[in-house]
Amino acid sequence: MGIEKRPFGALPEGCVADLFTLTSGEVEAQITNYGGIVTSLKVPDAKGEKGDIVHGFETLDGYLGKQPYFGCIVGRFANRISGARFTLDGKEYPLAKNDGENSLHGGLRGFDKVLWDAEAKGDSLKLTYLSRDGEEGYPGNLKATVTYSLKGSEFSIDYEATTNKPTVLNLTNHTYFNLSCGGDILGHELTLDADYFTPAGKGLIPTGEVRSVAGTPMDFRQPNRVGARIESRHEQLVCGGGYDCNWVVNGDAGRLRRAATVRDPVSCRAFVVLTTQPGIQFYTGNFLDGTLRGKGRVYTRRSGLCLETQHYPDSPNQPGFPSSVLRPGEKYHEKTVFRFHAG
Ligand code: GLA
Repeated sequence: MGIEKRPFGALPEGCVADLFTLTSGEVEAQITNYGGIVTSLKVPDAKGEKGDIVHGFETLDGYLGKQPYFGCIVGRFANRISGARFTLDGKEYPLAKNDGENSLHGGLRGFDKVLWDAEAKGDSLKLTYLSRDGEEGYPGNLKATVTYSLKGSEFSIDYEATTNKPTVLNLTNHTYFNLSCGGDILGHELTLDADYFTPAGKGLIPTGEVRSVAGTPMDFRQPNRVGARIESRHEQLVCGGGYDCNWVVNGDAGRLRRAATVRDPVSCRAFVVLTTQPGIQFYTGNFLDGTLRGKGRVYTRRSGLCLETQHYPDSPNQPGFPSSVLRPGEKYHEKTVFRFHAG
């Protein structure tokens, strides 16, 4: 029980990032206030043996180098914004192009690369960040709070924000999971509570269509191995080099409901994802190439999977998608829960 704090390392500008350890008996989570990164998450297998199920590094330095968003909070806008610009209330906002012609995961210095204020309280770690008007091109002073809580075998993330000017917002967490603590994730069994997905085209930008999963390798309504259909020539798998797409979570957005279940048949570690968000990005680590290592592991292609609960990619440019606009006076609140079990 409780939260321990220790220095994690110094940032180039001199500030010190801390590492917080949350323990509940069943689960142990380590989080740094640099990027709000979950650096380790230890959960028991069927024999009660704890293993670290997330990609990351032992030291802060690993996170300061170029790395594919291991464990971090993504903001202001998770995933892609096409053409690196959007129009809001008749005004165009240009953003940095950091993914071909598009903007990815908040720009050059997104919420994953800033130091958050941290406050540990009971079983929760509250991280706060003030993103100033114009930061990375986004309008409005945005006050964002992300609270990580660990209760028993339930790890939850609450995302809250307010703004003083209309803006767009899409916050998520980008943890890479591997329930066998090594090897690839192709044998993991996945269920996605989604009848529809948003197909992506060039540059992984959604076309605007909302398509049924029926009869396609995107159908995970029944548990299926991640690798069972990943090499099929389905256009979405070819386009992403594997799974890298947004699914529409069944049920009402705004209400906490089940979005996904993952189980590793070898260790029998499993978890359920519940969320208030309208969508979930399922990504199979297709861009990992084995050049990064950490915690005694080599991060090879498809060695980790991400389940990023979110608003749909490119929502600011897609009038048919649920709105990602936040206005002064409104309170943004989204919640995602990871419920672990073994069996
Ligand atoms: C998300 C995207 C992927 C990739 C990763 C980070 O999951 O959808 O295309 O950019 O983040 O490498």
